[in-house]
Amino acid sequence: MSGEPSGSRRGPVAGTLAVALSVVLLFLGCAASAPVSDTVRLSRATVAIPGVAPTPPMGWNSWNSYGCTVNAQAVELAADTLVASGMRDAGYRYVVVDDCWFLPQRTSSGALQADPKRFPQGMRALADYVHARGLKFGIYQSPNARTCAQIAGTYPGSTGSAGHEAADARTFASWGVDYLKYDWCSPDSDLDRQIDDFTRMRDALRATGRPVVYSINPNSDVPEAPPGTIFDWSGIGTLWRTTNDAYPGWALGQGLAGDQGIREILDTASWWAARTGPGHWADPDMLAVGVAGVAGTAYPGLTPAEERTQFGMWSLLAAPLIAGNALPYMDETTWRLLTDRDVIAVDQDPLAAPATVVPGTGGKVWRRTLSDGSMAVALWNSGDADARISISLADLGLPAGNGYLARNLWTGTRTTVGNSIGAQVSAHDTVLLRIGPIRAS
Ligand code: GLA
Repeated sequence: MSGEPSGSRRGPVAGTLAVALSVVLLFLGCAASAPVSDTVRLSRATVAIPGVAPTPPMGWNSWNSYGCTVNAQAVELAADTLVASGMRDAGYRYVVVDDCWFLPQRTSSGALQADPKRFPQGMRALADYVHARGLKFGIYQSPNARTCAQIAGTYPGSTGSAGHEAADARTFASWGVDYLKYDWCSPDSDLDRQIDDFTRMRDALRATGRPVVYSINPNSDVPEAPPGTIFDWSGIGTLWRTTNDAYPGWALGQGLAGDQGIREILDTASWWAARTGPGHWADPDMLAVGVAGVAGTAYPGLTPAEERTQFGMWSLLAAPLIAGNALPYMDETTWRLLTDRDVIAVDQDPLAAPATVVPGTGGKVWRRTLSDGSMAVALWNSGDADARISISLADLGLPAGNGYLARNLWTGTRTTVGNSIGAQVSAHDTVLLRIGPIRAS
């Protein structure tokens, strides 16, 4: 299977690159209104690494709360809290150590090594700790010479995987790594190079025989519109980042090449939502739920309504749910939201049908067909004033004449549905419903 995507790119996919180019130009010219062509698929494979992530991965990642100060104690505490809080049993399984876990130099034989001050027992011992708690272990690297913190100058050295892919993949497998976040971290946006580099590590991981979730980010440090938004990376990565970094704010106003608020990421969802399916997941980035913001900036932290929107819409879109908050310090509101089993059941629905947007009145309406024949519907108020959002059964694609029951997944309230369904939705909030036929009991 090795080398397959280059072949496919130069075969059937090659013709689509011209389409891609015009899409990129369109995109750059008139940002928010340009749809991205569904034909721009970069690999013939559907699934990058067989046997992993039949539903969207769930877990925790160190970056949003610890950045380059991450250490073994913080990761162990996160693992312990996943267990004690019930989050593990709600589905959060992956504990991922992001950037800055390594020493700025490789060994004389070229091997990566953990920073011995912050990870005194090394990564194998940390993976063992995580595994002993019924969790899975993840780590971070870059296909280029430097990781994102190294390229930003906030961490020393040049220890990316460029030229070391096979050896690094074997190192990760020997440590018991179950998830690799592989982050572009370069202003070089040459698509062929990106495909080759991400594929090389995919094949190196395949060659280890270890089932590793391969999480790629083709966007970081690319100065143009994000390649993860424009192209379909399924088959290269198990999950691929659609957009740039999600901050705990609503709208940051930096454009598509900059950091993103939750509304800005959701505004791009119709371009990539259909690319999601079993084993290949479009990844709009980690959860900002419960993550501390910075007062006086465009990312002051999410309001409760904005948190419901991120958690609810990420679930409606079947996005990976990777918490980024400092778990031992989370308050009850954050815990309740992150462990909402009815909402998580929508995210993890085994059918993994893609979500679609449908024309509603008063706001945005998204829907997704679930495996039991019911439908998840999100009434999303992206505006700054409260609104009544409604949609007819016909526009949802539900046959008339049947009786339907709608369950509000936040409140548990059940209502019977006539010809249409609607709700009053606060500014920035989302009402999440599960609609199914009324069954005779
Ligand atoms: C990029 C990624 C982030 C994080 C940092 C680490 O910005 O998008 O998620 O991994 O790099 O430096």
